[in-house]
Order: sequence, then structure tokens, then C-alpha cells
Amino acid sequence: MEEWIDYYDSTHTIYASKRHRDLHFQIIARDIIGYISSPDSVVLDYACGEALSAVKVADACGKLYLAEPAPGVRGRLIARFAPNTKIRVRSLDDLRHMDEASVDLVVMNSVAQYMTPEELDRAFAVIRRLLKPTGRLVLGDVLRPEIGMGRDVLALLRFARAHGFLTDALYGLASTALSDYRQLRSRVGLQRYSEAGMVAKLAAAGFSASRAHVNIGHNPWRMTFVARHALGQAPRSASD
Ligand SMILES: C[S@@+](CC[C@H](N)C(=O)[O-])C[C@H]1O[C@@H](n2cnc3c(N)ncnc32)[C@H](O)[C@@H]1O
Repeated sequence: MEEWIDYYDSTHTIYASKRHRDLHFQIIARDIIGYISSPDSVVLDYACGEALSAVKVADACGKLYLAEPAPGVRGRLIARFAPNTKIRVRSLDDLRHMDEASVDLVVMNSVAQYMTPEELDRAFAVIRRLLKPTGRLVLGDVLRPEIGMGRDVLALLRFARAHGFLTDALYGLASTALSDYRQLRSRVGLQRYSEAGMVAKLAAAGFSASRAHVNIGHNPWRMTFVARHALGQAPRSASD
């Protein structure tokens, strides 16, 4: 859904304050690092956003690819991380030209909700090709059908209270209620999947997956899945 890419390329107010934004990326980096199994690992962060703590992730692995569709965000990533030889910035299209079976860990966090089901299938096909046979895809922050925006608000308020930015969060929620985000969320919508639905979708893409005990990031009502190449099974083709 292009509208969401444009939204993330704009000067949006998804983070209530600098503190919220910095903490968000610190926690995502910490959680990504938890999935890195070796210091030599090649890691791909698919639709990474601003990735403000990417240096920490890069310190924990051999090479970090930051892939981002929004051109403005990507330009900032290139400028920010140019001095770091372990970090490479890519567009999503660039990923189609990377070597097959060259990546140990792909993380796609808080992205699936912004894609149509068909876009997500195409992304899974690109990722499956890139993953080594032993590699893993970690798909985080997946929204469930039965959980509405109220839980997102509650999760943010709890996160804010625990980290001392409750006032910013309350102002942020008020401005979000009046913002493009709210309009887009009701007009374009967000994709939601049940646990079984996402496991089946990943299976159709040639992955064997299960839900992780905890979600990446701060929202316990959203789900994370860990997927690997399903042994001896070719992915279902788009024409099936
Ligand atoms: C909530 S941010 C998540 C960023 C980062 N992964 C994180 O966990 O903080 C959503 C990301 O999805 C990207 N995005 C939005 N719509 C998309 C689409 N239709 N296809 C691919 N990526 C999309 C945005 O550019 C943005 O980087």
C-alpha cells in the first residue's frame, strides 16, 4: 500500500517525542540482537525505518543490510551510516539482485500491516530466496483481527509510563487522533492476521513458522513469528 510508504516518508508524528523515538529504536535493536546467532551473521532489516540504533545491531553481526522503501528515509540512512563499513543501505527492489542464500537473519518488524496480502507474499518470496537454508525470518509486530486500536493506545501509555514520557505520549495521542495517520488508518486500513492465518500464509510461501513467546518491541498484543525454509517443500507459485 503505497500510501503508507508516503506516510513514512513524510514528517509524520508517529513518535510522541525524541525520547519515544530513541527508546523505540533501542528496544527494536535489542530484540533484533537477541535473534542474531553468530557474530559473523549477515542480517537484513526489511523496511527498517530510521533504524536509529542500527550501529548496535551492526556491532553484533558481520554485516547489516538496511532495506527501506521510502526514498527520503533511505537518503537519511545512507547519510547517517556511511562511515560504518558493516552497514549497507538498499531499496526493496535492490534486494532482488542480492545473492541467493546469502542472509542468515531477516527481520521484518511492524511492516506486514502496511502491505496488501499480495505484497506480503511477494516480499516473502524475495526473502526466501535470500535466506540461507539455515537462516531465519523474524516477522514482528503482526496485528491480530480481534485486537483494536484501544490496545495500541494502552501499550503506548504503559511503555511511556515505564520510561518517563507519559505527558509526551498523551500529547502525541491527541495529535495522532487529528493526524494523517488516523485518516489513513481508517481509509486505507491495516492488515491483520490470526496466528493460524499467518502460519498458513508463511507455509504457502515455503516457510515453516511458529509464533514466538514475546513480540518484538513494546506491544504485547501484537505477534512475532519465527520462520525457516520448510524442508523439502517448494513455495507455492503465485499462479497456484
Ligand atoms: C512502523 S515502520 C517500522 C520500521 C521499523 N521496521 C521498526 O520496527 O521500527 C513501517 C515501515 O514500513 C514501511 N512500509 C510502509 N508501507 C509499506 C509497504 N506497502 N511495503 C513495504 N514497506 C512498507 C515504511 O516505509 C516503514 O519503514
